[in-house]
Amino acid sequence: MLTVSELRSGHPAAPEYLVNIFVIQRDYGYANNARLAKWMHVSRSAVSQAISRLKALSLIVQDEYGGVRLSPEGRRLATSVLRRHYLIEHLLVRVLDYPWDKADEEASRVQETISDDFTAYLYTYLGEPVTCPHGNPFPDTPEEKNLVEAMRICELEENVTARVLRITEEGENVQGMLTACYRHHISPGAEFVILKAEDGALRLRPVDGDVAFSLPAKYAKHIRAKSIS
Ligand SMILES: [Fe+2]
Repeated sequence: MLTVSELRSGHPAAPEYLVNIFVIQRDYGYANNARLAKWMHVSRSAVSQAISRLKALSLIVQDEYGGVRLSPEGRRLATSVLRRHYLIEHLLVRVLDYPWDKADEEASRVQETISDDFTAYLYTYLGEPVTCPHGNPFPDTPEEKNLVEAMRICELEENVTARVLRITEEGENVQGMLTACYRHHISPGAEFVILKAEDGALRLRPVDGDVAFSLPAKYAKHIRAKSIS
């Protein structure tokens, strides 16, 4: 079986493509070249080349409409990289006290270089976490479906109290998103009263505070939450 390191040595960008296909499919049910190009901030031609390589390796399957799916082997590699990413994020945030809003970027640099043995060690050492520090579920965990399908916070009603469940991977890639969340203490488990909701933008007040703040639609749409009142 191909390992992540072997894949990376032959095709440096392949693991990142596989992870992005997995995450797009998980959140949207459908991945294609255009969406990959947008998510990864690369050109359509770069995506086409990468997709051809992944197809030749039998790691993905492309349908006649351009939709891209992971093969079982592609999925195995994608989830392996994603688990590493989440574990490195935990290591950075919980053990090294590295800022929560910077951990995603740093983890992306490290995730492909650690061994299977170290990954297994981290998983046990960190108490077998079920989500990343931003609330995104480890693949194939019982809570995965509920977390993936949780509502966007901007879809909840005014005056309800919302508990934050996750900042989506898509959101983690939005410029300034994690920093804005960090500043307002928007992280999994945090609770806010939705004072006003208008065109996707929100005015929120922490349940344990009295200073309300505004959150633009471009950020609010990437926060998944549930109503608890
Ligand atoms: Fe994360």
